[in-house]
Amino acid sequence: MPYIRFGFEMNKTEAMSKAITLQEFIMDTQAEFPFVSGQLTRLLTDIGVAAKIVNHQVNRAGLAGILGESGSQNTHNESQQKLDVFADRTFMRILTAGKSVAGIGSEEQENYILCGDQGRSGKYVVMIDPLDGSSNIDVNVSIGTIFSIYRRVTPLGEPLSDQDFLQVGTEQVVAGYILYGSSTMLVYTTGSGVNGFTLDPAVGEFFLSHPDMTFPESGTVYSINDALLDAAPQAIKQFIAGCRETKGLGLKGRYIGSLVTDFHRNLIKGGIYLYPSTTRHPEGKLRLMYECNPLAFIALQAGGLAEDNTGEILTRQPSHLHERSPFYVGSVNMIQGLRSCWISKEKTS
Ligand code: AHG
Ligand code: MN
Ligand code: MN
Repeated sequence: MPYIRFGFEMNKTEAMSKAITLQEFIMDTQAEFPFVSGQLTRLLTDIGVAAKIVNHQVNRAGLAGILGESGSQNTHNESQQKLDVFADRTFMRILTAGKSVAGIGSEEQENYILCGDQGRSGKYVVMIDPLDGSSNIDVNVSIGTIFSIYRRVTPLGEPLSDQDFLQVGTEQVVAGYILYGSSTMLVYTTGSGVNGFTLDPAVGEFFLSHPDMTFPESGTVYSINDALLDAAPQAIKQFIAGCRETKGLGLKGRYIGSLVTDFHRNLIKGGIYLYPSTTRHPEGKLRLMYECNPLAFIALQAGGLAEDNTGEILTRQPSHLHERSPFYVGSVNMIQGLRSCWISKEKTS
């Protein structure tokens, strides 16, 4: 896909060799949105700013006395880390201060937040996992933020309602993540390809570093928490057994335990991430609105696939804000391999 800058087209190599900032890119690609909106441009810019603030705090966490548990629990009865709380507050503060957002659903908040006058103004609804992989904070392993943006459903001028927050994944207008890793990256899609930006800490800017990201068609990495396998569906067991048997084909098992990080690696190297339903948690662990759907939207835009136990996850109608789902995402060949395991198990059962 060509990149337009100041009215000129450039190819992928040219784009990487220029210092295109996130802000410039957002402005220059604004015309790609199915509807041109200054509000969406501003909202994306705000996310970039919040990302830099959280990144700064993540980088100095060991020094600043903000490692460890905060002493509180979130709505899922999981103990919150201090950085979970900091990241949540930062995104809330910045997103509610802009004029574009009508409401926010956060993994860390029991109920959705309405901005301004009951969410009457602002065209967009944001869903966010402010800090993903928080069990990895204390051990200096990469963590992330996952976000997605929807257009409001209720007419402007009316208060937002549940239906604004319970939209199917195909309705996303933007999905993205920030990875606080060996370098900090912001990756996002507006439904027209996936682009990645790397933060230059000296300059304090995100620069386009990974234009037009695509999943290698033929993945070689499989990522699953091995301890879940005994309690996972037969199809998952069969698929993983197949991965283990392919001696000589170079398949690798890699599991970091931060979804953003596992996903990002698989996007670049080619692979599949699996978080199955288990006998104890038939609904899975990951959250549909904050984790699965944004990454599913990115995956499809990058030429990959994303599913739950029954098929394409993006068309699933959510019934509540914090709904969980089994999640399988990655390169086409590996998701298709998993599909054939589901089909063969259906035939034998
Ligand atoms: P969060 O930190 O937002 O609660 O998400 C944690 C998620 C995800 O990042 C990761 O892939 C998964 O939990 C790991 O779960 P297990 O420890 O059960 O493997
Ligand atoms: Mn998470
Ligand atoms: Mn989280």
